[in-house]
This record gives sequence, structure tokens and C-alpha cells, in this order.
Amino acid sequence: MKLHSLELPLGKNQQIPKSPKIVLVVAFTLLFLVVVPYYTLLNYPLYLLKNPSEPPTSYDSQDDLVSISSSDDCDLFSGEWIPNPKAPYYTNQTCWAVHEHQNCMKYGRPDTEFMKWRWKPSGCDLPLFNPAQFLELMRGKSLVFVGDSVGRNQMQSLICLLSRVEYPIDVSNTPDQKFARWTYTSYNFTMAALWTPHLVKSKDADSDGPTHNGLFSLYLDEFDEAWTTQIEEFDYVIISAGHWFFRPMVYYENRQRVGCHYCLLDNVTDLNMYYGYRKAFRTAFRAINSLENYKGITYLRTFAPSHFEGGLWNQGGNCVRTKPFKSNEAKLEGQSLEIYMAQVEEFRRAEKEGKKKGLRYRLLDTTQAMLLRPDGHPSRYGHWPHENVTLYNDCVHWCLPGPIDTWSDFLLEMLKREGVRSYEERLQFLSDRKLNAR
Ligand SMILES: *[C@@H]1O[C@H](CO)[C@@H](O)[C@H](O)[C@H]1NC(C)=O
Ligand SMILES: *[C@@H]1O[C@H](CO)[C@@H](O)[C@H](O)[C@H]1NC(C)=O
Ligand SMILES: *[C@@H]1O[C@H](CO)[C@@H](O)[C@H](O)[C@H]1NC(C)=O
Ligand SMILES: *[C@@H]1O[C@H](CO)[C@@H](O)[C@H](O)[C@H]1NC(C)=O
Repeated sequence: MKLHSLELPLGKNQQIPKSPKIVLVVAFTLLFLVVVPYYTLLNYPLYLLKNPSEPPTSYDSQDDLVSISSSDDCDLFSGEWIPNPKAPYYTNQTCWAVHEHQNCMKYGRPDTEFMKWRWKPSGCDLPLFNPAQFLELMRGKSLVFVGDSVGRNQMQSLICLLSRVEYPIDVSNTPDQKFARWTYTSYNFTMAALWTPHLVKSKDADSDGPTHNGLFSLYLDEFDEAWTTQIEEFDYVIISAGHWFFRPMVYYENRQRVGCHYCLLDNVTDLNMYYGYRKAFRTAFRAINSLENYKGITYLRTFAPSHFEGGLWNQGGNCVRTKPFKSNEAKLEGQSLEIYMAQVEEFRRAEKEGKKKGLRYRLLDTTQAMLLRPDGHPSRYGHWPHENVTLYNDCVHWCLPGPIDTWSDFLLEMLKREGVRSYEERLQFLSDRKLNAR
């Protein structure tokens, strides 16, 4: 589908009204970009900004500058999967961070082609992840994954990709792996996970529930302090949520029960899952924008669709494909589209609100790329055949190595572009203030 032709109510197609002043500022920016050496502007060593395959000596500052800034306009998230025979870059033997249920090779997955693809944006190239470059950019910084097991899946993929350079040490302050914390000592880089599948305060009201799949109470207007009290110290926060909202839930607002999603309780209004999902994100972003000392950059990692075919997850559905789709073979629709739209709309709201405080929000818009990867899930190779696990055929998480490794390609590219983008936004912010002051 053409995700990017969608008109979002608060979407990216909004134009800043042009005034002579802004044109002037833009002209000045360009001049500045050309005159001032790139590396001082970004505070990154020069070699970091280069394509790792090119020797540093071939650097021609002006030419590269132009190509870097023009490719900044390219939409990274719209494209195709193309073959990459050199992948993967780690195995379950070289990386201990592969989660048991995503260790597909251990459990006998027979095909390996699903590991051998890379993402090619339509308008440019997305460089493959360079672990040394990533760690250098993260020197002295910290990054946290806020969300559920798909967020953890991404963190473990990142640990494995980085393992070619360094393994982290465990500095968790709890044995609960849902709140794991890692440090890369040579880089003074800390990475953590904070578990919050619903983003808001929730409790398991009935572990059996009407559908025998749990029944959660969600307090849609209350912060989940398990993460909201923890993120102020982080420089980068990657937030995500999704699959837990498909389950039965009872919604509370103002401590009053306001409805539910598929709870099958007498006299309780059945609101849909999008109602809770939207409100949960609204509250999560409100928490972030209300933090006194938070100065980090917030990335929304957008919903990664599951790929059950031939039935629902608990009714024999499975994912047995061994190749990606082409972009014209799959379309984001139904529940996945609704979920995607709800979170992006809430993101735009929060971004607008956060801007007033100088907070930065970025969209790690992985949905379209992952929609095209029905072949990347564990299916029945996330456990031994005789094991009784909740996800009989797991078409939600992603095998490691596998397509989720690409999220680190996206992340690194966004981090590399961040210096320029932050700088331009700062100029915009200052010029807006000047205009307002007149
Ligand atoms: C890794 O995968 C192989 C199959 O490719 C399997 O035999 C082995 O047990 C796995 N090792 C670990 C540590 O998971
Ligand atoms: C490590 O990074 C933290 C910020 O994340 C900083 O406060 C601390 O001073 C750094 N330590 C060293 C030894 O550089
Ligand atoms: C639901 O509402 C009906 C009619 O108002 C009432 O008779 C019944 O007791 C209610 N059931 C519950 C579980 O509250
Ligand atoms: C698997 O677990 C379900 C629910 O816990 C139970 O009903 C079923 O009998 C179990 N199946 C096996 C093969 O143990």
C-alpha cells in the first residue's frame, strides 16, 4: 500500500507558511552548512558520517555535504526488500542475546533465505548497520526501549548486531529481565528495557477471563510509573505498543469503569480496542511531555503487523511463507491500519505539544517494511513441538537473525541525520520566537 500518500489529520504534509524571514533563515542555514565544517556542526567525528565502505581520504566535503543533505529528504520507510546474500551478521552461536522463543534455527527452522534481505528505500540507500559507528555515536549516552516483548525483540537484535564490536555487561538492578539494563563499558553507553505492554497503569484483573486469554484492567488516564519515573535519565527513548491491545480489556477513566474491549461482561459497554489504544498513547505522551528533567529524543516505533494466515492466532493460524512480499503484494488494512493511524495521530499531537518545550519526537516508521515480511516470524520454530506455549504459531515476534535487524539500520541512519535536523529545528524555533516577539 502507499502508506505515505495517506493524509494524516496532523500529518507530515503540513507546510510551514513561507515568509521572507524564513526564506532568509533557510538561505543562511545553507550558507552555514557549506562554510562550517560538517563535523563541528554535528559534534561527531568526520569519519562517522561517511559511508563505512569508503576510505576516509576520499572525502570531498562539499560534494558529500550536498549529497548528505539532499538524501535527507528521502523517505527511508517507503521501499522494497532486496536480496542481501552477505547477511546475516551474527548467529545464535556468536550472540547469546537471542531470546529462546526467537531462536528459530535452534528449533529447526529449515529455510535461511528470510535472513538474507535488506531494505531499499525508493529514493536513496539505507546503509547497513555499522556497529562501531553506532557505538561511537552513543558514547556517553543512554537508550531505553519502552514497551512489550517486540520492543525487547528489537533490543536483543541490537545487542547481537553490536556483538561484533562489544558485548555489554549486565547492570540490571532487578533480576526481572523485563527491566534489564546493559552497559557497554568501552563506550560508557547504557541500554535498558522497561516493560509496559499497555503503556498506562494496568493490572491483570482475571488471569483466566471470559476468553481464557487474560482480562486486563487499564487505567487509561493514569501513568504507568514503572517506566514514567525511569526515563528522565535517558537520551533516547524508543516507545512502542500494540499486540496486547487485541486482548480483552476493561477501561477505566477517572477511576470509573467506562467500557471494555471484548470483555463479555454484563452491562459493560463494548468500546473497541482502538479507543483504549489511542488513549493509552495519549497518556504515555502526556507523561513524557510532563517530565521536568527529560531532555531526550522520543522515537515512536510504529506497529509491526503480525502475519497469521488461515485462522486467528489461537485457531490454527500460521505464517509459513519463506519470502518477503513486494510492496504491491500487501496492503496495510483493517486492524493494523487502524492501529497505525491511531498511534501516528497521537504522535503528531504529542510532537506539537512537546515542541513548545523544545522536546523532540521522531517516527521510527517500520510498519510498511514489516508488513512485507510474513517470512520473518518464528511460526512453530519458537519452541520444541511438544512445548505448550501461549503463541502456538508465533507470527508476532521476529526470528533472530531476521528482518527486525533492519530496525537498527533505520535507527542508525536517523541518528546520523539527527545532528542536522536538530540544528535546523533549533533555528526554526529561534526564528519563530523572534517573529512572535515582534
Ligand atoms: C544454534 O542453532 C543450531 C542450528 O543451526 C542448533 O543446533 C544449536 O543448538 C543452536 N545453538 C544455540 C546456542 O542456541
Ligand atoms: C558516562 O556517561 C554518563 C551519562 O550517560 C555521564 O554522566 C558519566 O559522567 C560518564 N562517565 C564517564 C566515565 O565518562
Ligand atoms: C445489568 O442490568 C440489568 C438491568 O438494568 C440488571 O437487572 C442486572 O442486574 C445488571 N447486571 C449486572 C451484572 O450488573
Ligand atoms: C496446553 O495448554 C492449554 C491451556 O493451558 C491446555 O488446555 C492444553 O491441554 C495444553 N496442551 C498440552 C498438550 O499440554
